[in-house]
Amino acid sequence: MAELDSLIAQFDVQDPAFIANPYPILSQLREATAVFWNSQTNQWMLTRFDDIAATLRDRRLGRNYSHLYSHHEVGRSEPDPRWDSFHQHEQWSLLCLEPPDHTRLRRLVSKVFTPRSIAALRPSIEGFSADLLAHCRELETFDLLTDYAQPYSVAVICSMLGVPNSDADLLLGWSHDIVKMYELESTESVKQAANQAASEYIAYTRGLIAEKRTKPDGLLISALVQVEDEGESLTEDEIVSTTMVLLEAGHEATVNTLGNGLRALMKHPDQWQRLVAGEVDAKTGVEELLRWDSPLHLFERWVLEDGVQIAGQEMKIGDEVAMLFGSAQRDPRRFASPDQFDIGRGDSSHVGFGGGIHFCVGAPLARQELAVSLEGLVQMFPTLELASEPTYHPTFVIRGLTELKLTF
Ligand code: HEM
Repeated sequence: MAELDSLIAQFDVQDPAFIANPYPILSQLREATAVFWNSQTNQWMLTRFDDIAATLRDRRLGRNYSHLYSHHEVGRSEPDPRWDSFHQHEQWSLLCLEPPDHTRLRRLVSKVFTPRSIAALRPSIEGFSADLLAHCRELETFDLLTDYAQPYSVAVICSMLGVPNSDADLLLGWSHDIVKMYELESTESVKQAANQAASEYIAYTRGLIAEKRTKPDGLLISALVQVEDEGESLTEDEIVSTTMVLLEAGHEATVNTLGNGLRALMKHPDQWQRLVAGEVDAKTGVEELLRWDSPLHLFERWVLEDGVQIAGQEMKIGDEVAMLFGSAQRDPRRFASPDQFDIGRGDSSHVGFGGGIHFCVGAPLARQELAVSLEGLVQMFPTLELASEPTYHPTFVIRGLTELKLTF
């Protein structure tokens, strides 16, 4: 027990050393227990793949509780009114809704994210990638994140939604400030910046929606607006939240998968060579990038019913459950030699995109974006290597590099 307490104490999201390499501690925790109470965050934490995969699909838990209970009923305080804009920005997003609202909105959004419509985007995605890689080639050393991954993923999502790419920097800035709120602990100044960004972002999105009403362009925001205009039940607030969640979810994780994944490849030159030699194709390789160094480490659920037991642990209504994705992705019960980075593993049934009703709606798009990037990088830079040692941002939930300087 003392040993478990000491391990839990080492699960320290404020410790840069833990964030730089959380896997040894996660592995020891996972072997010690399937579930533990984290009194720092007041959450049950799940460590093993099977429990996490099952929890994602368990409808007795939800991403929200407010459709069933008041904050008071689950023993929580009311949201701080100082951060109203932040709460407003996510209130009607897919990620915060539960059925029946979630079902209605998800059906609409899914219409645009079919494998067929995503495949049709491939030529323009390849175009964005080729242009940016050509720009990187002109530099002696380039930062994969700022010179490629960020402008690339924003260009893709903007073109899909119908947002002018000239506003990409604005969107990036807002999104970076907002997503810091999803960490387990945030300072007042982080909250203030996130709230300010959300408020500006909401005003911007409302303007964009007004524009689409007068000048429809057949793209996603226009489609959502049209549904509302045709008398279906999509409110302006829902369109605003949906637009914003797609923009945010649509690029932060993709950028960090590219950053963490290319770092892994540079640290394992034999695996990079397997791609260069054509022994493993990019589509297969992408699955290992998503598994081996997760860009998203923790997702939460609320217990909505009595009688819930996970890994033998009884839980009560209002309890919060944190699923440690980075731990699940390295669980030896599910993956053979899980710490080995094997670019040819090709196991696509990891939990990188979640599971159940909130399964990532953008997964086919993300997979395509990542495969196109990997293909382009391998072709253009077969001798790619690290130009300096990369470091991780001091954030655990959304885990990514500050920069990834590469040379060729
Ligand atoms: C490598 C890139 C990506 C990763 C690793 C990723 C991961 C995830 C995960 C794990 C979830 C489920 C969260 C939960 O169950 O609590 C999720 C949901 C979601 N993702 Fe992604 N995502 C990626 C890219 C994208 C892209 C490109 C888009 C859109 C363009 C997108 C849009 C969404 C949306 C809207 C949801 C919420 C779905 C719902 O609640 O019904 N994601 N994503």
